[in-house]
Amino acid sequence: MAQRAAIVTGASSGIGLAIARMLGEEGYALTIAARREEKLAAAAEELRAAGCEVQHVAGVLSEEDAVQGVVAAHRERYGRLDVLVNNAGVGIGAPVAEIQTKRLDMQLDVNLRATILFYRECVELLRAAGGEHRGALVVNTSSISGKRGQPWLSVYSATKAGVIAFTEAMNKELAADGVKSCALCPAFVDTPMTDFAKAGGVPAEDMIRVEDVAEAVRMLLRLSPACIVPEIVFERPGETV
Ligand SMILES: NC(=O)c1ccc[n+]([C@@H]2O[C@H](COP(=O)([O-])OP(=O)(O)OC[C@H]3O[C@@H](n4cnc5c(N)ncnc54)[C@H](OP(=O)(O)O)[C@@H]3O)[C@@H](O)[C@H]2O)c1
Repeated sequence: MAQRAAIVTGASSGIGLAIARMLGEEGYALTIAARREEKLAAAAEELRAAGCEVQHVAGVLSEEDAVQGVVAAHRERYGRLDVLVNNAGVGIGAPVAEIQTKRLDMQLDVNLRATILFYRECVELLRAAGGEHRGALVVNTSSISGKRGQPWLSVYSATKAGVIAFTEAMNKELAADGVKSCALCPAFVDTPMTDFAKAGGVPAEDMIRVEDVAEAVRMLLRLSPACIVPEIVFERPGETV
């Protein structure tokens, strides 16, 4: 059995892939999940080439079956779960009068509902790890939009605010069992998700790097069991309020 194991969703690119790489460096055996099989398989190969132990499970995580499939595959292969990273996410902008129900549901389902379902499906494994070493960790990728609602990204903002509230609730419910949670709240990070902002004139080099976010998660791994960091906010110069 692996000494330490982690699930990272949305790990086929961007922030999730950087966190998976960091966890691999730290010796965690990995299950990575995302929607598109081919892209995810390439990410798994890249991680393997870097020396990580990794399996990949593709699935549309707005679907309960897919969430259960990822957790079942993880349990089957590794038998333990020390770190869960709920990172898969989608943002679709629209002014309020033009919000399409299908896109509203997709953002709620991927960003918020899947996070909740992953907690439910993983809590037994997380509690077992927490009982063993008091340092089981759940990292939920929220957003700066979850802290301060953004026009046009109103639905996305609401889902990410929900992630922060759920994270807080989970700390109150699970921290005594050795399972700590943290919501990451970044401003623009240089990933495929911000191609629209780059096209709109925000240079990639002025954005937060995925490695910055992964380093913050590495810090969380090092904390004593007595210390909870409920959220980490990543600002950019000029974007702070
Ligand atoms: N980039 C930013 O500025 C920024 C800022 C704050 C928060 N975030 C959050 O950070 C997280 C990661 O985003 P990113 O910037 O790294 O973008 P990204 O590179 O586009 O990664 C998004 C990941 O989520 C997966 N995903 C999306 N919809 C999915 C679904 N229905 N089922 C399963 N997987 C799905 C994607 O897989 P596929 O490619 O196969 O769809 C991909 O692996 C998201 O939660 C995002 O909201 C990003």
